[in-house]
Amino acid sequence: MRPFQVQITPIPGETAVAESAGTVYDVVVLGGGSGGYACALRAAQLGMSVALVEKGKLGGTCLHQGCIPTKALLHAAEVADAARESGQFGVRSTLDGIDMPAVNEYKDGVVTRLYKGLQGLVKSRKITYVEGMGRLVSPTAVEVEGQRLEGRHVVLATGSVPKSLPGLELDGQYVISSDHALHRETVPASVVVLGGGVIGCEFASVWRSFGAEVTIVEALPHLVPLEDEQASKALERAFRKRGIRYELGARFSGVERTETGVRVSLESGKQLDADLLLVAVGRGPVSQELGYEQVGIEMERGFVKVDGYCQTSVATVSAVGDLIPTLQLAHVGFGEGILVAERLAGLEPTPIDYDGVPRVTYCEPEVASVGITEARAKERFGDDAVETLIYDLAGNGKSQILKTAGFVKLVRQKDGPVVGIHMVGSRVGELVAEAQLIYNWEAFPDDVAQLIHAHPTQTEALGEAHLALAGKPLHMHG
Ligand code: NAI
Repeated sequence: MRPFQVQITPIPGETAVAESAGTVYDVVVLGGGSGGYACALRAAQLGMSVALVEKGKLGGTCLHQGCIPTKALLHAAEVADAARESGQFGVRSTLDGIDMPAVNEYKDGVVTRLYKGLQGLVKSRKITYVEGMGRLVSPTAVEVEGQRLEGRHVVLATGSVPKSLPGLELDGQYVISSDHALHRETVPASVVVLGGGVIGCEFASVWRSFGAEVTIVEALPHLVPLEDEQASKALERAFRKRGIRYELGARFSGVERTETGVRVSLESGKQLDADLLLVAVGRGPVSQELGYEQVGIEMERGFVKVDGYCQTSVATVSAVGDLIPTLQLAHVGFGEGILVAERLAGLEPTPIDYDGVPRVTYCEPEVASVGITEARAKERFGDDAVETLIYDLAGNGKSQILKTAGFVKLVRQKDGPVVGIHMVGSRVGELVAEAQLIYNWEAFPDDVAQLIHAHPTQTEALGEAHLALAGKPLHMHG
């Protein structure tokens, strides 16, 4: 096999660094989270020499404080629900309690195994891994605790951290962020969750399953407000049934310590007492005091500005992941990291269609979507140029077996392709794999309608929805 020829893109104004002055890497990546390590792995695979700098643990937020540990908690929550509610399936069991140290051991075990695997992967690709706090010191160099790493290109991937509100201090015990929430040794009896976005809904779901009284405070009119309004409403109904309370359109005004926990005040005058307050009002980019502005990189609200190819205003510097103002999702970071590596290797990657990125909130029930909402489709194509269809999971055998409620909603440009798929229900996160193919391949309802879906699965709900939208409903009334 002919070895792949790497072309390093010529960089206007590249700093001339004599090879004799030391190694010049093809790429120096600052930050070893999803975006950074994906870029490093792909660049190395394409034959480039790579240095990867990480101050904490390889794997970053996703592996250590985000996706992986929270999904382990959500799985433990599902097991708790199954034990508590087994009677409805004729299986007698009782839930004795939640042993949080044991839950944490399970969660940490998952993280540790993946962490080891990732370390092995980076080593096997011959990436130079540099531990320590790095700073951008020129358009082509990163300094790590006195050591200068020169690169033909630098990729910034320093990620994000939980945000708070002005004047709202996180003490880690009573007023906490998602980082703290991952390491609790006990289940709180009651929690107020500030922010009904993805993190807020996922933790609310976990704690409710573990037996806590939970109230979510959300400033906007709906939970998961970026989702299609009908999906948000379906989640709200399901949460209400589960006993998760929420205050919508409610603005937080303050929190004070009480003898047993916290008292949260809302602008309406309402007060909520709880053991603790989880602050989940978004994540902010890690971009301060890292030399970015000094090197001339354009920023926007703390995010690094990039073009469609993740190139910053400085030609030799790219940026990926939560640091740039795109969707803050690990898989988006992977995609951007790969895109940058391929561009730097002289391939011609296609810019990412961010609407085509699947999004899943892994609470119970799950909310999953790809493409655009009905509201956005109407803005884009006009009110009369959009068709929608809702297939209720009540008609889906497997969903009935699981005793879950929800729907698959399709949004279609009239006489055109499907432009949005929105789903609510247990396990619908797994259906997003097919949904993303439908959206990204610009399928028409008829294209999908002719595909036979395995019976009995929840994927049939997707098939049925397309059958109905193609004018030939099978298991659907009306
Ligand atoms: P978010 O932006 O999804 O939600 C924050 C929520 O807080 C918003 O709904 C906002 O309206 C609300 N809010 C802001 N200020 C408020 C105030 N003063 N009072 C009441 N509500 C207020 O951010 P979140 O949930 O913290 O997550 C951060 C990022 O991490 C997101 O981009 C999310 O997509 C990502 N993430 C993704 C996960 C997944 O894909 N399953 C899991 C966890 C996080």
